[in-house]
Amino acid sequence: MKYGILGYPLDHSLSPKLHNAAFTKFGIDASYEKFEVKDLEEFSFNEIKGLSITIPHKEGIIKYLDEINPVASEIGAVNTVKNNGKLIGYNTDVVGFLKPLEKVDLDGEKIVVLGAGGAARAVCYGLKDHDLIILNRTLDKAKVLADEFGGEALDSLNDIKADIIVNTTSVGLNSDESLVDKEFLSKHKPLVYDIIYTETKLIKDAKEIGCQVITGMDMFIYQAIEQFKIWTGKEVEYEFFKGIVEKN
Ligand code: ATR
Repeated sequence: MKYGILGYPLDHSLSPKLHNAAFTKFGIDASYEKFEVKDLEEFSFNEIKGLSITIPHKEGIIKYLDEINPVASEIGAVNTVKNNGKLIGYNTDVVGFLKPLEKVDLDGEKIVVLGAGGAARAVCYGLKDHDLIILNRTLDKAKVLADEFGGEALDSLNDIKADIIVNTTSVGLNSDESLVDKEFLSKHKPLVYDIIYTETKLIKDAKEIGCQVITGMDMFIYQAIEQFKIWTGKEVEYEFFKGIVEKN
């Protein structure tokens, strides 16, 4: 049986290591490959049992599917496809994002989401019942998300209170930059959650100041656990995937 990740580019994807190790662990005769594809028109879904979908195809994949589950449909993005004769789309980014927050009491907490792109949509969907501020340099995009998922739209962090900050932008991915200055972190001591999976300047600063932090690596691991469950019904333990990630 064939599985894989569909996206472009895929040089640094850790997904094959995780899912292949899980297939071996459960004695499932399957392989998980990289399908580095720019144009979805050129991809043949026939022989493939399951797919992880990543940048830039999370939205474009939808028109190729026979069914889409309600969560993925509301977010407007699919990161997981199961092929059981029909192609069915799911979004496990939301579960992956929320899982590390299960141990945090979000009641009454002021949550600031930085960014209003595709990743922010999944995050805001997951947090839609909470007290949200959506902050984006392009205010109109923040307003669209706030209208859809609730919350206040802003374009600057200046005088606001923050108990939790979630970075969904790409700032910090390939540069030593952060959208939140250290004074702000010192003043509010928020829990800082950066969905980027390397250690960003934002995470380093927050650790230095003594804030609680969650990195995108946890989100990545939990979304992969959920994906594997959708495809196989089997539940991989967090520590198993964490161990593989740490070896790489
Ligand atoms: P993704 O699907 O990963 O969320 P995206 O849809 O391109 O990617 O969204 C990127 C987000 O990061 C946007 O909110 C973007 O802000 P704009 O809407 O104003 O473009 C934000 N972003 C990217 N680079 C940024 C920067 N240098 N400073 C502030 N925000 C930035």
